Amino acid sequence: MPANIVVLPLLLLLELDLGSSQVLPPPCDSEIYCYGPLLHAVQMAKLYKDDKEFVDMGMSLPPENILKNFKDLSQAHNNNIPRDKLEAFVNASFRAKGQELEVWTPEDWKESPQVLKNISDPQLRTWAERLHQLWKKLGRKVKAEVISQPQLYSLIPSTHPFIVPGGRFLEFYYWDSYWIMEGLLLSEMPQTVKGMLQNFLDLVQLLGHIPNGARVYYKQRSQPPLLTLMMNSYFSYTKDLPFLRDNIEKLAMELNFWANNRNISVSAGNKNYTLNHYFVPYGQPRPESYSKDFELATTLQEGERETLYTELKAGAESGWDFSSRWFNGTSKPNSLISIRTSRLVPVDLNAFLCQAEALMSQFYTILGNSQQARKYQDLRAQRMEAMQALMWDQQKGAWFDYDLDKKQKNPEFYPTNLAPLWAGCFQDLKVVDQALKYLEDSQILTYRSGIPTSLRNSGEQWDLPNAWAPLQDLVIRGLAKSPTPRTQDVAFQLAQNWIRTNYDVYSRTSAMYEKYNILNGGQPGGGGEYEVQEGFGWTNGVALMLLDQYGDRLRSRAQALPSQPLCLAAVLLSTSLLSFLPW
Ligand SMILES: *[C@@H]1O[C@H](CO)[C@@H](O)[C@H](O)[C@H]1NC(C)=O
Ligand SMILES: *[C@@H]1O[C@H](CO)[C@@H](O)[C@H](O)[C@H]1NC(C)=O
Ligand SMILES: *[C@@H]1O[C@H](CO)[C@@H](O)[C@H](O)[C@H]1NC(C)=O
Ligand SMILES: *[C@@H]1O[C@H](CO)[C@@H](O)[C@H](O)[C@H]1NC(C)=O
Ligand SMILES: *[C@@H]1O[C@H](CO)[C@@H](O)[C@H](O)[C@H]1NC(C)=O
Repeated sequence: MPANIVVLPLLLLLELDLGSSQVLPPPCDSEIYCYGPLLHAVQMAKLYKDDKEFVDMGMSLPPENILKNFKDLSQAHNNNIPRDKLEAFVNASFRAKGQELEVWTPEDWKESPQVLKNISDPQLRTWAERLHQLWKKLGRKVKAEVISQPQLYSLIPSTHPFIVPGGRFLEFYYWDSYWIMEGLLLSEMPQTVKGMLQNFLDLVQLLGHIPNGARVYYKQRSQPPLLTLMMNSYFSYTKDLPFLRDNIEKLAMELNFWANNRNISVSAGNKNYTLNHYFVPYGQPRPESYSKDFELATTLQEGERETLYTELKAGAESGWDFSSRWFNGTSKPNSLISIRTSRLVPVDLNAFLCQAEALMSQFYTILGNSQQARKYQDLRAQRMEAMQALMWDQQKGAWFDYDLDKKQKNPEFYPTNLAPLWAGCFQDLKVVDQALKYLEDSQILTYRSGIPTSLRNSGEQWDLPNAWAPLQDLVIRGLAKSPTPRTQDVAFQLAQNWIRTNYDVYSRTSAMYEKYNILNGGQPGGGGEYEVQEGFGWTNGVALMLLDQYGDRLRSRAQALPSQPLCLAAVLLSTSLLSFLPW
């Protein structure tokens, strides 16, 4: 257990009767933002439409005074404060949300990066210019008053400015930032990327790991580990060796967190393997979705509630909050109550770590430390052996999450089943072509507006009919590694599908979205715990990546055939070569 975890408030919690037996420490140590009677009263009164609003409000009084006033108010009303009194109390003690940050125009933003010039379709080029402009809308920095009085805020202050996802996501998020950074590098903004990386490295220094996002209530859960990859993108662009040298130990520290706190051992055949899973052994509802979690738990026996809370947090840690991927599909298919995230060993998590291990080995080689380089090479080899034994399905041509309860692979389709291709975590390029066959066999290529998140429509946001930008990237860049022209053409076609969905919705709404509903030709996504959000950091990043990769070929309109008869003939010829595609 890392030293930063405060177990002390446990005793305090035992005195509260919140309807569940306390066995685990709360998600963080703020008695206002993370646990306790005040949080419970405010969130269960549903003063705001979205529970995230309250925990994003700064305090207008010192926390001790707020807690004392709350206690007095509670006592005066026999622990049952009327709603209007509670609202007046909150108004008097807290400020409106969203005041910790100010809009920041990145200093390294410039008018016309090369990526824009290389896009041949004029409509797509104009659109890409707008995406490039959006970095100025999504740039934020922490106000001086928050840095000087952090105890009054749930925001974890950071020294350097950053880009946020947008919408309800006012602060920066861990895995989102990877795709944002890739977009920023295409916009030729390495200074902004360096600052964002520095913020993450500071969090590793402070907490021993990177939290889900920069809020105290996200402290004890992380998100898909992409820090080492972020460093690699920045380093490849800048060749900033001193920065790599100064921070390599923090990268190692973060990977140690996963090795020591998110490890799981699996025995199969005559062997024991070690892999990683999402696991957040902290009790209580998620503070930012408190009432939803609490109400869900009331349908369970008391003894089962804490487990539900930990599995919900592990679901949030996976980045897939929520998805039928984490549910027990046997008892109540598509039901959040059956969530058991930590009982699955996810393909993507292990592919990300496998990639990080390869990168660490390369970094240490560059830095002249062959002993550490070998250590990471060995870790990677062990992981690949375990993934091969437990996740790879030779017949289907893909990897599958390993189910610890059923002791077998979960056969469902998720784009993450191909994450090892993207992560370079495979031995033989032949598997890339096998993956194409897997996509065909699973009917995935029949979806023309994007790759679905799963084939189950559960009402959760990481399921059909939603599609997410990072998952498109996982599949497209994975397939593009194949030397086979046909596989590469499918990668391009998937890129074309996604760009057209993004572009069409942008043309209609002038906005980029967090996710898209890919049925009915593509529209903003829905489902899950909150309204679909505009912005949107990682969607913009992935769009720029695809426009960079395929800018000479992507088209904004389906029928945009060139007017020259000769070219037309060439297009017809190449279309007939592509006739295996589903249209
Ligand atoms: C609290 O503040 C909100 C927003 O300013 C306002 O709409 C509401 O009427 C206030 N409630 C009370 C009880 O003062
Ligand atoms: C843009 O296109 C030019 C000419 O085709 C090529 O040399 C260059 O590498 C491309 N730049 C980017 C950023 O893709
Ligand atoms: C995970 O690693 C820690 C530290 O090395 C070890 O104590 C623990 O037993 C491991 N847990 C599992 C489930 O393998
Ligand atoms: C695997 O682990 C189990 C439980 O820790 C142990 O009993 C068993 O001997 C191990 N098997 C091998 C082959 O190491
Ligand atoms: C799923 O639910 C069924 C019925 O409640 C139960 O029997 C089974 O053990 C559960 N499976 C897992 C893997 O939790």
